[in-house]
This record gives sequence, structure tokens and C-alpha cells, in this order.
Amino acid sequence: MTESIPSPRRPILELPDELISQIAAGEVVERPASVVRELVDNALDAGATQITVRLLAGGVRLIAVEDDGMGILPQELPIAFKRHATSKISSLSDLESVGTMGFRGEALAAINSIADCALLSRTADQASAYVLEGRTGELRPAARAQGTTVEVKELFYSTPARRKFLKADATELAHCVEAVRRHALVRPDVGFAIWHEGRLVEQWLVGTLEQRLGDVLGQDFIAQSIPVEHRVGNIVVTGRAGIPDAARTRADQQFAYVNGRFVRDKVISHAARSAYEDVLHGQRQPVYALYVEMDPTRVDVNVHPTKIEVRFRDSREVHQAVRHAVENALAAPRSSAIAGTDEATESSQAEAASPTPFFNRSETPRPAPWPQQAMQFNASMAHRVSDFEALWPVARVQAPLATDAATEPSHQPLAVQAVEAPNSATDWPLGRALAQLQGVYILAENAQGMIVVDMHAAHERIVYERLKHQWSAADPEQSRAIASQPLLIPATFAATPAEIACAEGQVETLQRLGLEITAFSSRTLAVRAVPSALVQGDAVELARSVLAELAQHDASSVIQRAQHDILATMACHGAVRANRRLTLEEMNALLRQMEATERSDQCNHGRPTWRQVTMKELDALFLRGR
Ligand SMILES: Nc1ncnc2c1ncn2[C@@H]1O[C@H](COP(=O)(O)OP(=O)(O)OP(=O)(O)O)[C@@H](O)[C@H]1O
Ligand SMILES: [Mg+2]
Repeated sequence: MTESIPSPRRPILELPDELISQIAAGEVVERPASVVRELVDNALDAGATQITVRLLAGGVRLIAVEDDGMGILPQELPIAFKRHATSKISSLSDLESVGTMGFRGEALAAINSIADCALLSRTADQASAYVLEGRTGELRPAARAQGTTVEVKELFYSTPARRKFLKADATELAHCVEAVRRHALVRPDVGFAIWHEGRLVEQWLVGTLEQRLGDVLGQDFIAQSIPVEHRVGNIVVTGRAGIPDAARTRADQQFAYVNGRFVRDKVISHAARSAYEDVLHGQRQPVYALYVEMDPTRVDVNVHPTKIEVRFRDSREVHQAVRHAVENALAAPRSSAIAGTDEATESSQAEAASPTPFFNRSETPRPAPWPQQAMQFNASMAHRVSDFEALWPVARVQAPLATDAATEPSHQPLAVQAVEAPNSATDWPLGRALAQLQGVYILAENAQGMIVVDMHAAHERIVYERLKHQWSAADPEQSRAIASQPLLIPATFAATPAEIACAEGQVETLQRLGLEITAFSSRTLAVRAVPSALVQGDAVELARSVLAELAQHDASSVIQRAQHDILATMACHGAVRANRRLTLEEMNALLRQMEATERSDQCNHGRPTWRQVTMKELDALFLRGR
């Protein structure tokens, strides 16, 4: 331990302005990208329609931001460099409803205190532009069209300690580009260009939001995301949310805006994340660009020097709005949009000069869509329709059995007659079932090619959604309950004392979960009723797993906290198991039910339930058309 030596008393002095600015700069300017962000903010506030950023050495040697905005009067140029000088607010009430990016009147002063700056500007009704040198304060006429150029040279030249923390030029450049990207994603009405060392690195032209998202984040982002549009009260949430398949290992494609300002906000990111909780696997990070518009007086932007954080008057309303917005977007099964998505990908791949898709080549006779042996469908393995009804109480297929599929040529649309087909056999988004593979996958044919479905995963989701639906349809104040069905013959099993105690202690909870489990003897439990959605499952397995879940949770809060976990467990045990043979009717019914079920593209653990293999991909596999 070092001994503390009392230091001699020192007088209290006011700091010089220059030092105050340098201290402020320490908060605002961490690296070149922070300067870029501030200058682009200013250009946007000035009403620019075109913003050009020029950089040297990752922005350390030079950052110049040019705009075609309203400009600054020559007599105001020196004021712009002053601390706490702004044209954007003039009262507390202005501060409480800020509509501009800037409002602190601090950025230019701070930047000018740690770099060599120049401000060149011309307003609409001036004959000439003027330039102000930040170091010397010299003001002189110069040449420029309407707008402003801010030049920042040798950043941190006066604070070398800061300069040492900077990374390689390439890294700083990447941060600068990221800063402009964040602006570009919310202002498709403004054109942006970034130059580094005389080379154009990025250019984004004026266009629609969708075009801008595609230009900045890539066409994949558009193809793999769903539009978000949701209004609750005075909060509007728009943008695009990535499908679960597009999730990444890093949270590097999550853009959230509040009233046009890029923010890092826990409320929004948590809300978005929770909208994915049912469909995302493990730690995967969703991608999204979300724009929250709300009454500016209900959000405080004056929280953080870099304005990247905000504080909401009522964070619950924002959380709910964002969560519902994303949930709604994700809920619709994407199989229903399969044709559209495919077109989009196709056109974006058109430049790749790929061979004409097989199904468009009219002169080529189209072979049987699937090798005949895959169609082998053993009549003895087929289930009766009554089994299917048990499997599938909701969907009803009005059709004769088609168990003699194996005796027919494979290209005959046999199974199609077995379901209520739309105009053409392959018009169903998920197609018509052809066969079951190894008791695990359903193979189906649609207009794009082949569909492969993980039967258990898909059914598990459908059952889960149905249970959730039954659960939430009930009035939360009343006792919520899942529809239950008594078993003709109770299923008994040898139970542990803990299981028996749990069954006896949680009769009501079990009942609400659609289960009736009673003691049969001192060591045996009997399952007397199960949820009607799960009648075909293994009742004993189901009872055991639910009792285990219940034992883990505190009885009083179990319904609130663990309902989804329990419903998911129930769905997992109630869903059709792998290795169960299905008839074509059952398979087709499952496909139709998937098309109609929310979130059916992912199983409860976030894995995909189906994949499309296009004819193009199959052609490529067989080198057709090369
Ligand atoms: N590109 C520009 N075009 C027109 N006026 C500008 C431009 N940049 C700065 N100004 C003027 O200079 C003033 C000071 O800019 P500065 O960035 O320091 O503060 P601010 O934007 O008002 O607030 P903040 O510190 O929050 O950014 C602005 O209020 C604005 O009037
Ligand atoms: Mg500013």
C-alpha cells in the first residue's frame, strides 16, 4: 500500500476555453469515425441532398465533408467554431422536442480544439463563398457552390496520447464507412459518396428505402428479410427484419433508429431479440433495420455526449411496439411467399449468366420429377385416415386413399387427386408430397423444384403454435386452459415419489395444461387426459416431461414464467416422431398445415423445418445445361 501524502491545497481556477473544448472533445471524438458522424449530422441538419466524405489515412490525416445544404453566413462562421453555439435550439422546450441531429453546439468547437480545421461555406444569396481557418481565425473569400465543406486535418495532433490509441488506417476507414452507413440507412433521400486516398470506396445513390437497404446491406438482406410495419398509439415501427435463417453469429447487422437517429438501445434490441426467441437457434443474432417514429417529447436524446443513447419516457410502450412489430412480420409462414422470393433471388442472380432454368426450356421434355424408387410407398406401411385425423384434427383432406402410388408411373400426379389441389399440382407453396425418406423427411414437389421437410420439426412447431394459441386465446384473468381430451384407457406408469407428489400438488396447473394425472397406486400414476392436440403422442412421455418441468419451477409462477417452455416440451413429446410412416394424405395435410401456421418455417428450437431445392440447383448438381 502506498502511503497517502496530503497534497498542498491548490487554488480553484476556471479552465481556459481551449482546455474545456479539449475535454469535451475527449467525450465526443473517440476516433476519426466520430468526426465523420458529427459532420454528416451537420450536413443533414443543413438540408443536404448530396454528401461527400473524403478521407486520407483512415481519416487521421484528413476528413473533409462536403454538402449542398443551406450554408453558413460569413459573419456566423466564427460563431460556429465557438462552444455552446448552435442554430438548432434556443430554449429548454426546443431541447425537449429536438428534431435535428445536433443540438449541443459543441461538435465543431470540440473538433477544432484537437485538429486543424477549416470551414468553407456559401449560402444561396451570397455572391461568393468564405473560408474560415480554425487555427488562425483568418476569414477570406473562396470559391464554392452553395453548401458547406468542413476540413479536419491531423486529428489529435494536439493530444498525441489519443492518437496512439488509433488502429491501422484500414480499421479507422472501416469505422468511418460504418458511421456513414448508419446515416445512409435512414436517409435514402440523400446521396452519399466516400473517397479514401482519392479512390471511391462507397457510393449510394438517392432511391427508395428498399433500394438503399439493398445497396448498403446487400441484396441478400432484402431477399432474406420481411417488411415490418406496425403502429400502436403514437409509435410507428417500420423497416425490415431478417428471417431466422439470415441470423449471424455477431450482432453486426442490427440497425435501430429513433426519430431518424441511429441508437444503441437496450430496450429496442431486447424487444427485437425477444421477438425472435421462438424461432432463433441458440445464440444466433438476428439482422434488422428498424425505424421507430414517436412523439419527440416522449424520448430524451440528451443522455450521451455522442447522442447514441436515448431514454424513453415509457420504455414499456416502446418495447411492446417493437416486439409486436417484429413478431407480426416473422409470424407469417414464408412458404406462402415462396414464388415471390424465388423470383427475387432469380433476378438478382440473373447477371451470373446461369443456364436457363430447366423448367423454362420448353423444347426439353421434362423427365419424371423424382426417381421412381423414391416413390415406393408400401401400402402396408400406410396409416388409415382415422390415424391421420388423430394426427391432424384440424386439417381435413377430402380425398380417397392413394396407397397404390407405387404401382403408378411417378410423373402421374397421383397424390394430387388425393388432396384438394389448386389449379395445378404444384401450385401449393410447399408442393405435393411424393414420399417419405428414411422415416425422417417428407419429399415434395412444387413449381420451383423439390421441397424437403423435416417432419418431426415441422409438426412440433404446428402443435406448439396451436397450444400457444389455445393458451393465449383464453382470458388471462380467467384460468387459462388448453383443450383436453380424456383417454379411453388411462396410461399408467411407475412413478417416483417426487413425480407423485408433483402430480398431486399441481392438479390445477396440470389441468390447465390439458393434463389429468392421478395416483393409481402408491407407486403408479395414471394419465387420464391429455391436450387434444397431443392425443397421438406418447402420453407417458408427455406426463413425465411435464412433471419434470413443473418440479423445476416455483409452482406459483410456473404459469407465467414457464408457459412457453412447458408448451414447447409438450409439443416436442406430442409431435409425430421420426420413423413413423405417414400416408401421402398425412404428408400433404402436414404441408398444408405448415402453410397455414405462423412461424412454421422454424421448429421450436429455431432450426429450419423445410428447404427448397430448386431445379436450377438440381441442374447444377447434374451439370445439366453446361
Ligand atoms: N454543414 C453545415 N451546414 C450549415 N451549417 C452548419 C454546418 N455545420 C455546422 N453548421 C452550423 O454550425 C453550428 C455549430 O455546429 P455544431 O456541430 O458545433 O453544433 P450543433 O450541430 O448545433 O450541435 P451538436 O454539438 O449537437 O452537433 C450549427 O448549429 C449550424 O448552425
Ligand atoms: Mg452538429
